[in-house]
Amino acid sequence: MDNRLFDMAVEAAANAYCPYSGFHVGAALITDDGKIYTGCNVENASYSMTVCAERIAIFKAVSYGEKSFSAIAVAGSKNNDFSANCIPCGACLQVMSEFCGSDFKIILADGVYHLSDFLPVSFDKENLE
Ligand code: THU
Repeated sequence: MDNRLFDMAVEAAANAYCPYSGFHVGAALITDDGKIYTGCNVENASYSMTVCAERIAIFKAVSYGEKSFSAIAVAGSKNNDFSANCIPCGACLQVMSEFCGSDFKIILADGVYHLSDFLPVSFDKENLE
């Protein structure tokens, strides 16, 4: 399943809209009950409006009522070689932490990691109390 999810992330990267960076990213998110939502990065001439592939996949899923996720695969490349790890940015890790626990799986080119590997602690709803 991990490899299949990674392959789906590579496929999703084909739709990346990345005229500024040329860096194609795809993400494939799987829910606890096995539904898959994909995303790609969408850039903008106003650079900071860019949204990463991971957040698009997560927001798509949440907009369909999903809130329980077990894993996300992420693939990124400038030249169609997806063998180097594309590590999710801090903003995407923070969004993952809203919905996912520390054992949430992050599947990269060279293997499986967990959210806690990249984001050991996060700002969460308890901080708002
Ligand atoms: N990007 C992602 O979509 N996900 C990541 O994990 C890292 C970066 C995008 C944002 C931008 O469109 C391009 O990659 C270069 O930063």
